Amino acid sequence: MTTLLKVRGLKKYFGQGAQRRLVLDDVNFDLDAGERLGIVGRSGCGKSTLVKLITRLLDADDGVIVFEGKDITRASGDELRLTYRRMQMIFQSPDDSFNPRRTLGWSIGEPLRNWRVPNVEARVEELLTAVELPKAFASRYPHEVSGGQCQRAAIARAIALEPALLICDEATSALDVEVQAQVIELLKRLSVEKGIALMFITHDLALLPSIAKRMLVMHDGRIVESGAVDEVIERPRSDWTRELLAANIFSTGSFGNGN
Ligand SMILES: Nc1ncnc2c1ncn2[C@@H]1O[C@H](COP(=O)(O)OP(=O)(O)OP(=O)(O)O)[C@@H](O)[C@H]1O
Ligand SMILES: [Mg+2]
Repeated sequence: MTTLLKVRGLKKYFGQGAQRRLVLDDVNFDLDAGERLGIVGRSGCGKSTLVKLITRLLDADDGVIVFEGKDITRASGDELRLTYRRMQMIFQSPDDSFNPRRTLGWSIGEPLRNWRVPNVEARVEELLTAVELPKAFASRYPHEVSGGQCQRAAIARAIALEPALLICDEATSALDVEVQAQVIELLKRLSVEKGIALMFITHDLALLPSIAKRMLVMHDGRIVESGAVDEVIERPRSDWTRELLAANIFSTGSFGNGN
């Protein structure tokens, strides 16, 4: 397997002077092409900060990020534009993905127009079909569809340029359990069919068996455990993993089924 993403010694501080706090502390991991990796940890442990560093929304204070063989730690301008073609994100709230004044079809077609891809309308219809939405949804506005449908549209937009990596930061957290399971199933299918690698970030450990084979557990800005999802769930080595497991069994009474 080829390595798609390599993260080494990543550090991030927030705040100034006495307020300065280390929020990411020496984060290291690799992601293979097409691999689905779960990242779990309780609120505030640094998951979204890690995503923001990888997607270059924030600068790292130390460390290296290599994506498709290129050091993107300080990428900007055209280099960053090329990176964004290959690396896409889906956020918790569809509001973050869509302009409320544009139709879903317009927004899904935007990256295609930006990259001068021909036959945008036909391609948008194909993308809607790929995420199991009716073609007629192209003319709907974000407020005219449900949360799950809007998240499907966000996925359509994210895969429009056939990225190598899709980063989902709490992408299903705002959805109810049933719709959440459907969106996870869709993400998994698209990943398998198109060979897209996934980073699936969540505070909910119970979601991981249905989407990821391997997982990282974060606590206080560090990776405290990593391994195969089934093994980590069956034989957690870190107290922080045990705490996440306990929280889950308490809230749901069980875990999802394996891959
Ligand atoms: N721009 C910022 N300035 C200062 N502190 C920040 C900033 N962004 C995040 N933090 C702090 O950094 C820590 C990590 O935040 P982060 O958003 O990465 O957590 P998270 O794991 O994504 O949490 P959640 O599960 O709630 O989304 C938190 O303590 C947060 O308060
Ligand atoms: Mg977050």
